[in-house]
Amino acid sequence: GPTDALAQAAFRPKRSIQVDVHQNYIGGRWTPSGGVIAVLNPSDGAKMAEIARGGANEIDAAVTSGHAAMKGEWGRMDAVTRGRLLLKFAELIRRDSEKLARLESEDVGKPLTLARNDAAVCARYFEYYGAAADKVHGETIPFQTGFSVMTFYEPHGVTAHIVPWNYPLQMTGRSVAPSLAMGNAIVLKPAEDTSLTAIRLAELIVEAGVPAGVFNVVTGLGPEAGHALAEHHDVDKIAFTGSTPTGRKILQAAGGNLKKVALELGGKSPCIVLADADLDIAIAGAANAVFFNSGQVCVAGTRLYIEKEIFEKVVAGVAEIANGMKLGHGLDPSTQIGPVVNKRQADKIKDYIDGGRKDGAEIVCGGQQMGATGTFISPTVITRTSHQMKVVQEEIFGPVVVAMPIDSLDDVPRLANDSRYGLAASVWTQDLSKATRFASAIKAGTVWVNCHLMYDAALPIGGFKESGWSRDSGMQAVENYLETKTVCMVV
Ligand code: NAI
Ligand code: MG
Repeated sequence: GPTDALAQAAFRPKRSIQVDVHQNYIGGRWTPSGGVIAVLNPSDGAKMAEIARGGANEIDAAVTSGHAAMKGEWGRMDAVTRGRLLLKFAELIRRDSEKLARLESEDVGKPLTLARNDAAVCARYFEYYGAAADKVHGETIPFQTGFSVMTFYEPHGVTAHIVPWNYPLQMTGRSVAPSLAMGNAIVLKPAEDTSLTAIRLAELIVEAGVPAGVFNVVTGLGPEAGHALAEHHDVDKIAFTGSTPTGRKILQAAGGNLKKVALELGGKSPCIVLADADLDIAIAGAANAVFFNSGQVCVAGTRLYIEKEIFEKVVAGVAEIANGMKLGHGLDPSTQIGPVVNKRQADKIKDYIDGGRKDGAEIVCGGQQMGATGTFISPTVITRTSHQMKVVQEEIFGPVVVAMPIDSLDDVPRLANDSRYGLAASVWTQDLSKATRFASAIKAGTVWVNCHLMYDAALPIGGFKESGWSRDSGMQAVENYLETKTVCMVV
């Protein structure tokens, strides 16, 4: 079982850094804060670094430097040059991808193979939006005779970005790249648990030739630096990626100056396996959908609905995969599942599992909190749940799936939509008409058919219902970072 696997993994990594001290990056200068936050590696508890505990003062300085950049060279730069600089930045991310991946792996705890992909995906966002910089433009509009009307798309000014800890490099790229491509200056507040790669990106973008003050990073706690940023009156737009409860707080804080808000929030995404599916593929896919990145994925497939005649078989298959997965240190090449981001999150996940057990659900496999650090959760499959249980309704953000039978295909839309969330879903079937019917009935921003977790800079992603506002990725996301100006002239 996974417990033995973890106990055996007496893995001693070679550290890539030894308690580095990092400051905020504001206006192209390293700037300290009053306090610091210790950075721990969740794989082994080792202290890796210290980051600045930024607050309202640092946020204010960063916003001011963003506006100064908009008044300077960056604000006057043509779109072709801007795009070229972002492509150069992407090249530097790829050049340093191994260093970034190691840092990400140690900071988040995730397996190095996953972190390598994160670095590549981060570069890809800057490639996609860098290439788009000079391809977004306004329109001319036929109006009454004697008038000439056109629209211009202009940047907002300074946009704020608050990102979560599950995919620091990816979420930073996804959130920040379209804004920079459209000509805004940004202030980034990374998650307090995972700020190290954001700090590196701030250095790299200056090396790429982007003027100082365009890309500002203030590290710190959500209720301090994060809140100050959401509230700041000179921030024109805020893009938040994270949990739905925090999204609500952002919205309230943004009300003061009515800054524009983009929200990419949580999910409780259904994975729907029909009896006609290729079961080997569906079982492997369903397991991957929830255990990948230790389940810390906004679009994770956490509600597994299975047609009743194949229920036992699919549950057994997913449990077998779960039991066979190797938990371990993020830098250990044999690791398949790393720890979750910190002990507090592991405790929270364990509470959900224990709560489910108390409510009468059955823990088919996993359910253990492990390791000296208490940061590992063994991949968990839960059955015999009922609709109102917390494990069925709430985002757990760990390697935990609830499996539930489908009695009749007519129930599928109701079951899939039995959630306050609407971020994603997957349907596993070989029947094209069922796939098409359910894809249209499910209220979710992404519906995958015979796959899950497939994403790219080109594919819009975001939520229906309480999973958020607006879309990230794809060409639609540039609209998040533009104001439309209509110029109506008598000619
Ligand atoms: P969170 O959503 O509070 O954290 C995300 C970011 O928001 C971090 O950078 C944090 O510093 C910032 N933040 C927190 N409070 C803030 C505030 N009042 N004002 C401005 N910024 C603030 O997530 P947290 O607390 O770390 O995790 C709690 C739960 O949230 C998880 O167990 C998981 O269920 C969910 N979550 C979901 C994510 C998703 O992408 N769906 C991502 C991260 C967490
Ligand atoms: Mg960390």
